[in-house]
Amino acid sequence: MEVLMSNWSDVQSMPESYVFPPDKRPGKHIFPDCKDIPTIDLDKAEGLNRAEIIQQIIKASQEFGFFQVINHGVSENLMEDTISVFQEFFGMPAEYKASFYSNDINQSCRIYSSTLNYHKEDFHYWRDNFTHRCHPLEDHIQSWPEKPPRYREVIGIYCVEVRKFLLRILDLIREGLGLESGYFEDELSKIQLLSVNHHIPCPDPSLTLGMPEHCDPNLISMLHQCAVPGLQVLKDGQWLGVEPQPDAFIVIPGLQLKVISNDLFTSPKHRVITHTKEARTTIGTFLIPSSDVSIEPARALFDTGNPPVYRAFTYKEFFSTFTSKGCDAANALGCFKKKLE
Ligand code: OGA
Ligand code: NI
Repeated sequence: MEVLMSNWSDVQSMPESYVFPPDKRPGKHIFPDCKDIPTIDLDKAEGLNRAEIIQQIIKASQEFGFFQVINHGVSENLMEDTISVFQEFFGMPAEYKASFYSNDINQSCRIYSSTLNYHKEDFHYWRDNFTHRCHPLEDHIQSWPEKPPRYREVIGIYCVEVRKFLLRILDLIREGLGLESGYFEDELSKIQLLSVNHHIPCPDPSLTLGMPEHCDPNLISMLHQCAVPGLQVLKDGQWLGVEPQPDAFIVIPGLQLKVISNDLFTSPKHRVITHTKEARTTIGTFLIPSSDVSIEPARALFDTGNPPVYRAFTYKEFFSTFTSKGCDAANALGCFKKKLE
């Protein structure tokens, strides 16, 4: 069977290798939508309401672990063009996409399906993923696709704009946490990764997932969803649907922000369910620390009454522990917790 599902045509029934064991299936249950996702109006952060917006972001990061942002500064045209460029890319001929196919995490621009363990896993997730690095642009753009013809131009501008947006959010978080100016700049947000999920229509969404439940291991994530629903977040033990709002970005603090905030922030579990009728394309942008920078609870966020929860570690150390623990966030974080004295 062709590995990349974006090359399949007209799927009428579930291929057996995508049917999960019964205890892992999402089931037929209709999941309620999350009604009260905190929405941040970023325009207001530049005016008299700045302190209020900062408090909203800090509260959402503590209680919900994610929020959506409107008036984020990236134009609607650019957002739409970006989604359509990726839809065109996934629709390119199989031979063209094959030139990017790789399961090697060290290959900086690659397409693959399900997980990087495709050939070893017991069942497959219902997705193709295309991913590459983006910053600094001039170091990476040569490895990006040349087709569709506007790929490099549109995605180049998009990556620069989204980076500015995420750095603005990080700066508001920094101010809200009382950390020194520039705290998240440079090494802690050095790597920018684009990760695009594409799910074709699925004959039976009750039997499979488009992405496993997980927490994002990076510093911070941004998701730009097309109009087709699928993202779910675990809140108070219940899976809730995140209804796409095409003009908004979803922001999720990653596990490194949870550590730096000394567990003030939550980094919620989320997953993706599939859709019977429509294909879904979601663009994720992740800011990730450089491999060797030291990550630890910020000095301003602990004292004798509230000691640091984690010891210092490097992102390289964290990421290899995270993958060796099967991407289980609680297990991985547990390895870096300080022993109580
Ligand atoms: C991710 C992620 C969700 C989505 O890429 O980490 O959670 O909706 N994506 O594709
Ligand atoms: Ni995620």
